[in-house]
Parts: sequence; structure tokens; C-alpha cells
Amino acid sequence: MGWHKVMTVGDLASEEARRVSIRGEDIAVFNLEGEFFATQDRCPHAQASLSEGIVDDDCIECPLHQANFHIPTGACQGGPVDVDLRVYPCRIENGEVFVELR
Ligand code: FES
Repeated sequence: MGWHKVMTVGDLASEEARRVSIRGEDIAVFNLEGEFFATQDRCPHAQASLSEGIVDDDCIECPLHQANFHIPTGACQGGPVDVDLRVYPCRIENGEVFVELR
């Protein structure tokens, strides 16, 4: 499994999200004021792409039915579902962003 380069730091503006695919797994990468995080991209409610949702502080709001998740921990904080998101370790090295699949 291991670490996978997914983008460079400059590819993603602060408070934005982007979907990447690693070995067939859809992952949402977030830039929160220069700190990068990664969660599963598919909402556990009805599979909407969370990277198309709205980043509000350190939370992501699902674009389909507005479930809300804490990005650093994946914790569900409300909405029509009560399932936390899978989170992935994320690190920056020499201006490049890496996500770890386990
Ligand atoms: Fe995300 Fe319904 S698909 S809340």
C-alpha cells in the first residue's frame, strides 16, 4: 500500500477540495489553511462526491443532502447519516502532498 503522491501544494487553494483516485479508491484531499487532509470521497449516505461539497472551517458539507463531517477526524456531525468518514494520513514533503493507503 504505502504513500502516494497526489498533487503539489500549489495545486489546491486553501479551503478547497479535490478528488483523487489511488488504486481505484476515491479520496477527497482538502487544504485547510496550508494543512492537508484526506478522507474517503464518497458520502456514506448516498455516495455523493464530498470533494464537490462546501468547505466550512474544518468541516465539509455534502453537496447532495448536506451531511456534515469534521475533515481532520472524519467525524459525522449531522445530517441524514450517522457514519464517520474513513480518513487517510497525509503529509507534505518538498512541496508535494502524499496520502497513505493502508
Ligand atoms: Fe451525502 Fe446524502 S449523499 S448526505
